[in-house]
Amino acid sequence: MEKKVIRAALLGLGTVGTGVYKVIKNQKEEMIPKLGSEIEISKILVRNLEKAAAKVDDPKILTNNWDDIVNDPEIDVVIELIGGIEPAKTYILSALNAGKHVVSANKDLIAVHGKELLDAAEAHHVDFLFEAAVAGGIPIIRPLKECLAGNHMAEVMGIVNGTTNFILTKMTQEGMEFKDALALATELGYAEADPTADIEGLDAGRKVAILASVAFNSRVVFDDVYIEGITKITAKDIKYAKEMGCDIKLLGVAKNTEEGIEAYVCPMLIPSNHPLATVNDSYNAVFVNGDAVENAMFYGRGAGELPTASAVVGDVFEIARNIKADCCGRIGCTCYKEIPVKKMADTHNRYFMRLIVEDRCGVLAEMTAVFAKYGVSVAQIIQKAARAEESAEVVVITAQVREGDFRTAMEELSGRSSVRKISSMLRVYGE
Ligand code: HSE
Repeated sequence: MEKKVIRAALLGLGTVGTGVYKVIKNQKEEMIPKLGSEIEISKILVRNLEKAAAKVDDPKILTNNWDDIVNDPEIDVVIELIGGIEPAKTYILSALNAGKHVVSANKDLIAVHGKELLDAAEAHHVDFLFEAAVAGGIPIIRPLKECLAGNHMAEVMGIVNGTTNFILTKMTQEGMEFKDALALATELGYAEADPTADIEGLDAGRKVAILASVAFNSRVVFDDVYIEGITKITAKDIKYAKEMGCDIKLLGVAKNTEEGIEAYVCPMLIPSNHPLATVNDSYNAVFVNGDAVENAMFYGRGAGELPTASAVVGDVFEIARNIKADCCGRIGCTCYKEIPVKKMADTHNRYFMRLIVEDRCGVLAEMTAVFAKYGVSVAQIIQKAARAEESAEVVVITAQVREGDFRTAMEELSGRSSVRKISSMLRVYGE
């Protein structure tokens, strides 16, 4: 179907909405040669018309009434950038049901209700695209669905939260403690006024659910993802990890194993020579492993006005091309398998731990006897110089062990009188 002007409506004119408005404007001259049609933002839904007026060339396109958009037959594409579950879900479903294509950056919604939204898109032969929902400007959803479709993906993992990566970078490079690094992130605008979703790993967990679903062709929802944040990490953990050849990063990990999918977000030690260990500041990176491509890494800006707008506009352009070629709904839901998601206790990892123990003969033997009982093998061990009150600090990295068995061993160890404190327990990425 030949259509020269594609009309889009923006829902929300915050940071990303403003970025999308700017990028579409900057692309005006390129659209006809690039796409064969022109994209026009013909309506913008905002809460405060007066405040929004300063951000657009023609305030007449602003509305605070959703019905103006959903009932307008001229609007082909709805770009949802308001975030959260409601009213975003109602708006998206009613737009899809009205035969409009939808682009969304809403990871909270897609990680929980992705299937319902994709089913609605399929029922109406329209596109529902969400490249910006994972890692902002980094292309990863379409690469997984299209360029890498010839693979059985074994793993997709990475650093998908810029705020926490900034905090951990400052703790690593400047020896800062968590609360000081968080205060700096807030001062510089990297952390939001309420940083909970970032520092507790929830934002990354939503992205892992979406990445795992797309990579393994099997639905993984937010509740399936095991999540730990970075609030308990100390400068000392980072220093000792370095001594053992590792950095600490908040990793989102999804693996497709013979026993099922593993999906988790937690601070992990990663060997300092792994490419992800060099991803610093607020940058994101996603690392994939497939049976044909082997390893590939995607690196860039995971948030921000123009980087996120870059992903949104890429989706809008894809829809414009699909409209022109009359092939909308070409790539919808790709979850055609039903693979179970494993419990965290059934995953296998290596573990790093710091313990304060009594400094006397036989304590290490007692520790390793408990480890041996549960199949925990020590791979690296450092004993720090004896501290006050006849205690010593022992830092251990284990070999691969089932998480449930490791936890039982740690419980038993924490009940021993020779173990004064277990200061930290972190997972270690890699074999
Ligand atoms: N708050 C996120 C981050 C960006 O810090 O990476 C949006 O998901």
